[in-house]
Amino acid sequence: MNIATLIRPDLAALEPYTPIVPFEALSERLGLPAEQIIKLDANENPYGPSPRALHAIAEYPHYAIYPDPDQLPLRRALASYTGQPVERILCGNGSDEIIDLLMRLFLAPGDVVVESPPTFGMYSFNTGVVGGRIVQVPRNDDWSVDVEQLAEAVERERAKLVFLPSPNNPDGGVLPRAAIERLLELPAVIVIDEAYAEFSGESVADLVGHAPNLIVLRTFSKWAGLAGLRIGYGLIPEPIIEHLWKIKPPYNINMAAVAAGVASLADLPHLMDNVDKIVAERERLFTALQTIDGFHPYPSRANFILIRLRDGRARELKLALEQRGILVRHYSKPGLSDCIRISVGMPAQNDRVLSELQTLNGQY
Ligand SMILES: Cc1ncc(COP(=O)(O)O)c(C=O)c1O
Repeated sequence: MNIATLIRPDLAALEPYTPIVPFEALSERLGLPAEQIIKLDANENPYGPSPRALHAIAEYPHYAIYPDPDQLPLRRALASYTGQPVERILCGNGSDEIIDLLMRLFLAPGDVVVESPPTFGMYSFNTGVVGGRIVQVPRNDDWSVDVEQLAEAVERERAKLVFLPSPNNPDGGVLPRAAIERLLELPAVIVIDEAYAEFSGESVADLVGHAPNLIVLRTFSKWAGLAGLRIGYGLIPEPIIEHLWKIKPPYNINMAAVAAGVASLADLPHLMDNVDKIVAERERLFTALQTIDGFHPYPSRANFILIRLRDGRARELKLALEQRGILVRHYSKPGLSDCIRISVGMPAQNDRVLSELQTLNGQY
């Protein structure tokens, strides 16, 4: 028998998520040593983790023991960081895991999730994994969300969940607080994904618990430079979080991540100084990109900049940069195929990128 016929047909037909090619694989493919590659394709933090986080990982004495399923030390530290009570905080193996848990908690096959593309790919991906249906309300030309169309879609489709990042990935625009307040009137759970909030300085975390249907997602991957350790968390009202606890894998967060997360929150001045440097570089990069012929960069409040190329040859540019050891993100998705997204690097890296872009000058 063909054993693959036992697989759920909807999952057998699912488009795989396209993750970033691992650094080592690229270094081998390009024949360039890893230290010569400038990696600006996944919105990682070029300054890396806090030295205190690295020290805490090295010093933690109990790796032979299973982690604390209640994640208490990290949740306590997050309570003082976010201003939310410990009871409303749940940590995940990256915020990706919280997205997955929310889908599994709310969706039976056929139930609807609404998103506003172009946006982060995991919402539609995870909806597909649990057999839900994604309904898309495209963004306006300036990347803003069409709030009334979205509200109409939620009511019409009886959607259970709405996922909106603020800042949005890939353009970096913030969803205005008034728009979120309007969406909270809807009979659905509104998930605001604040993966990049430390770079925008804007958050609706304070509304969690006041609106019964607001969830805010956060991560240590970006501002704290810990993407490789996988630490995300949700700020979630009590009537929802109590059920998430029941379906969460007991030991989802490893103790190296807990140690690093707690130490990062004890080293905020250092990490926020890095955030400030990235924000300053983002503004410098944006101004410089505006002066390059054929480039249309969009203003961003995150740690990356999306650029539309007037000649449409974004894939060619991505490959030309790759040959020079510079990795940026290109999408083959509708509405984005003529765009590249560049994560903000350290000043010398950004200088290299700008100089390569000027030298290439459309020759790719
Ligand atoms: C909007 C958004 N949400 C969530 C994530 C994933 O975060 P994590 O690394 O915590 O899973 C990303 C990563 O790129 C993102 O862009």
